[in-house]
Amino acid sequence: MTDRYAVIGNPVAHSKSPLIHAEFARQTGHDISYEAILAPLDGFRAAVLEFRDAGGKGLNVTLPFKHEAWSLVGAHEGYARDAGAVNTIDMRDSRMVGLNTDGVGLVRDIRHNLGCPIRGRRVLLMGAGGASYGVIEPLLREQPLELVVANRTPEKAVVLVAHFEKFQSFAPEGLVARSYVELRGRRFDILINATSAGLSDAMPPLPDAVFAPGALAYDLVYGKRTPFLEFAGARGARTADGTGMLVEQAAESFFIWRGARPDTAPVIALLKKT
Ligand code: ATR
Repeated sequence: MTDRYAVIGNPVAHSKSPLIHAEFARQTGHDISYEAILAPLDGFRAAVLEFRDAGGKGLNVTLPFKHEAWSLVGAHEGYARDAGAVNTIDMRDSRMVGLNTDGVGLVRDIRHNLGCPIRGRRVLLMGAGGASYGVIEPLLREQPLELVVANRTPEKAVVLVAHFEKFQSFAPEGLVARSYVELRGRRFDILINATSAGLSDAMPPLPDAVFAPGALAYDLVYGKRTPFLEFAGARGARTADGTGMLVEQAAESFFIWRGARPDTAPVIALLKKT
């Protein structure tokens, strides 16, 4: 029997996940269906339970429900525990387990697809919202020399850093919170924009000289050349949008559900064409 999966969000019509998982299923020969479910803003729980009761095997959760998904599931595994957000629900024997594959996807894209090591590098993470909570532990476990979190509202960066304090020691020079003004005179090897600024064609107020020679500028927003990527490219940095992360986080979800690892490269290439 065909196993059912879906992505659930609001809005969700724009989601590339059905296309990505259809490609994974074709590649691996797995018999699955994967649809997009639009849940009412006050109807996430009901929609998830309905899907599960109809025999659904797993869900990807997208905005704005990742926090709610964390509270809804009965158990958390891996990075979901501290991220406080769930993007993957595994429905095992009608039990719901919550996981978060966003950070794994980001790290895999940076390291393997872009060939950029994180270990020993100076890393700047911009933003202190849900997207940052989702990626920070896997980033730290790569052992960057330092991980600086900058946010427009600096107090939120301080709260985020305190939340992940137990992982401090993974970064020899520390995990620290800064305002954008405090970045003056600092240079980074990898700069990750996890703010929502790009969605409204804005960018974090970065100083000009923040890019070390050969720096990688990465924007979690996908399918769009954001002002941050324009700014970085004009200052000699290598740039990447979040397409690779999107496909890699999907591949990790597929692996959790199906035990098979799809080849992500052709799917990333396909998405970049569309
Ligand atoms: P998400 O869960 O998608 O991360 P969020 O919790 O609303 O969304 O967080 C959005 C992040 O983008 C925040 O870090 C926000 O900064 P503030 O905490 O100061 O609001 C950041 N952000 C949004 N627009 C921005 C802009 N124009 N410049 C800099 N940061 C911005």
